[in-house]
Amino acid sequence: MHLPFCAHRCGYCDFVTAVGRADQHAAYVDALLRELELEGHVLADPLETVFLGGGTPTFTALPELVRLLEALPAADEVTVEANPETVTAELAHALRAAGATRVSLGAQSFQPELLRVLERGAQPDDVRRAFRLLREAGFDNLSLDLIYGIPGQTVADLEADLAAALDLDPEHLSCYELEAKPGTRFTHAWGAELERQAEAMEDYFERVVATLTAAGYRWYETANFCRGDRRSLHNLGYWLGRDYLGIGIGAVSTIAGERRRNTPKLARYLAGAYDRELESLDAGVRARERVLLGLRLDDPLPLAGLEHALDPVGLARVERLGLAERGAETLSLTKRGRFLGGAVTADILAG
Ligand SMILES: C[S@@+](CC[C@H](N)C(=O)[O-])C[C@H]1O[C@@H](n2cnc3c(N)ncnc32)[C@H](O)[C@@H]1O
Ligand code: SF4
Repeated sequence: MHLPFCAHRCGYCDFVTAVGRADQHAAYVDALLRELELEGHVLADPLETVFLGGGTPTFTALPELVRLLEALPAADEVTVEANPETVTAELAHALRAAGATRVSLGAQSFQPELLRVLERGAQPDDVRRAFRLLREAGFDNLSLDLIYGIPGQTVADLEADLAAALDLDPEHLSCYELEAKPGTRFTHAWGAELERQAEAMEDYFERVVATLTAAGYRWYETANFCRGDRRSLHNLGYWLGRDYLGIGIGAVSTIAGERRRNTPKLARYLAGAYDRELESLDAGVRARERVLLGLRLDDPLPLAGLEHALDPVGLARVERLGLAERGAETLSLTKRGRFLGGAVTADILAG
């Protein structure tokens, strides 16, 4: 479920967001629940996972956020994305009471200067305070988001961010390389620095993986780490190629071989026009997506039914180079292959 409202727009962000609009939060939750009523018949009963993402779900007026959570079908995992500066004791307890089981907190960095570059509203102490308040409210499944490759970020900054995150002992960590879209205000301001840093990113990624795995985290997906088996069940479903229903502006669904993209236009959505683009996914596209997503995981990808999506020559080459390994009926990337990620997968895919 997409909750688009944010206190302000961070320069690097490319998500569907709307700044402020306090007067529209109630109407938006009404629209979400209407869409759910129209589309919810496709959902499994009982539901496995719910994910409230943003935007900043926790910037939504609290009574409206609670009303939404309470109206949703029960699920094994209910994640809410939160920005640190929005977390109060009241919010943490309200989320818990309304059925949230997991919170994903957008820390991004613990360095004040880098938070300023990202135009974040939170200071490092806000992240620590938010984390503590969520723990005190009873959350035993907390995730932190970090971004690396921020303009001006040194290796020492990265190590300090990882140490600060580990200090909080989260069950889950997502570490994303900063993606700066060409033509944005952010890229205009920082393009030269981003270019200068680009070469160092493979080393940064390796440091992230080395530090977090040494601290006992499982590197279960390219950018995701967990303690024990505290994987994000919701995202895992996506990486395993399962169907999902997306509700809200800009939300994407994949249902029975069809991809749907909801309109990103808030006014149209509030007016009850659930415009969406439809794309039919043929067997070839589905198999390619399955390989692309499945090879991001540490668990081997079962190959049954996917053989026609693979290029035998490319596959033999990456195996020879020690980038991929074939099991009896599975395929996985080696550690080296996982660092190179998409480039290896592109070599393996047919066509
Ligand atoms: C839907 S976003 C935003 C969640 C929340 N509003 C926040 O800002 O913390 C989820 C995560 O994606 C990551 N992200 C957003 N924009 C990114 C970008 N341009 N490059 C890399 N990661 C990004 C951030 O780590 C963020 O926490
Ligand atoms: S708070 Fe999160 S969703 Fe909102 S603009 Fe910033 S990065 Fe984007």
